Amino acid sequence: MGRLNKRLDPTQTGNEAEKLESDLRKRIVGQDEAIQQIINIYQTHLAGMSSPGRPIGNFLFLGPTGSGKTRMVEAAAESLVGDARAVIKIDCAEFQHSHEIAKLIGSPPGYLGHRETHPLLSQEVLNQYHTEKMNLSFVLFDEIEKASDALWNLLLGILDKATLTLGDNRRVDFSRALIFMTSNLGAAEMNSILRPNVGFAASETERESAAGVVSGELSGKVARAGVEAARHKFAPEFMNRIDKTVVFRPLGEPELRRILSLELNIVQQRVFNSSVGAPFVFSLTDAAKEYLLREGTDIKYGARHLKRAIDRNLVHPLSNLIATGQVRGGDLVRVDLDETAPKLIFFKEAENMPVYAMVRMVDTSIAPPIGTFAAGAAAQRPRAANAKSTRR
Ligand SMILES: Nc1ncnc2c1ncn2[C@@H]1O[C@H](COP(=O)(O)OP(=O)(O)O)[C@@H](O)[C@H]1O
Ligand SMILES: [Mg+2]
Repeated sequence: MGRLNKRLDPTQTGNEAEKLESDLRKRIVGQDEAIQQIINIYQTHLAGMSSPGRPIGNFLFLGPTGSGKTRMVEAAAESLVGDARAVIKIDCAEFQHSHEIAKLIGSPPGYLGHRETHPLLSQEVLNQYHTEKMNLSFVLFDEIEKASDALWNLLLGILDKATLTLGDNRRVDFSRALIFMTSNLGAAEMNSILRPNVGFAASETERESAAGVVSGELSGKVARAGVEAARHKFAPEFMNRIDKTVVFRPLGEPELRRILSLELNIVQQRVFNSSVGAPFVFSLTDAAKEYLLREGTDIKYGARHLKRAIDRNLVHPLSNLIATGQVRGGDLVRVDLDETAPKLIFFKEAENMPVYAMVRMVDTSIAPPIGTFAAGAAAQRPRAANAKSTRR
């Protein structure tokens, strides 16, 4: 046995973790640090180095509303399980009283209604998306600062021992689960660091954040403010059970711009995968996009506001056009801006386009689970179609 002195690179990630990382980067904008933390823990799990008898990962996601906390969990499930619906979501605000806790764990035998309760957190629910190859579960506790004491106690047991005891004493095993908890605690403090008094002569901070650029130092400061707020509010026995506290950044203009194009793509995918009518393609002019961005920018609600603007200004009018037969399968619809109103206006630019021609016009790389259309399109598409549209 010769002596080696080969330098190893622990920053390399394996193929599986790499796929998760690239899937997350395609879907989530501006939260690279959060993505990195998830990858680290997933990689530890893949290597078999996670602590036994605990969930695979316990994550605390902090940061403002509409910054992608929930979306991150859905995107991870999309990548690993192929379906965002695999995420079991528990809205902590809805489980304040003991009879509501029974919805989670069921009531003890003999109790009125015992037989009718199907606990939300049973092993069957946890395993419902498991396959032979994939047996991870995703559990999301939203807004944990609103959890009642009873819910806290359940949560502490899950985080520490990966078990939950149901009302009828059955045990649920969480050792194959990734647990995510979100809170927008500290968001106000974080925002005041990033966006100090408006009207103040532009400081370095202000100019940076106005341009949507946040330096490493500044983002460190923001992250510390978030973590500080969490330490203040949550008991140490809770914080000690968290593997990673991840602070989501407030989104600036450049991020919202990228999210706009992601979301437009998702709307187009929905048209493709819809079971109602044949698919058509829409395309927005730059002016129309700028309008949506203006209408959808709101510091308080982040990308949520943008999504609402897209629904109101694009999805609803398009739905009306479909329902009234003005837009049909095979159409190309151009969406422009009427500056005087101002509002989006719709024109039919082409009709009777073949499916493969439509597929080429859009980026399907971040498609949701393949629907009927995608399967049909694959059959009709010539082999060397545009690389963008063949990637998935
Ligand atoms: N960083 C992001 N990257 C991509 N999309 C985002 C991002 N943040 C928010 N969104 C979009 O806005 C929607 C609402 O965000 P969500 O993840 O629910 O925010 P919250 O941080 O309040 O949980 C998401 O479904 C997604 O469409
Ligand atoms: Mg959320």
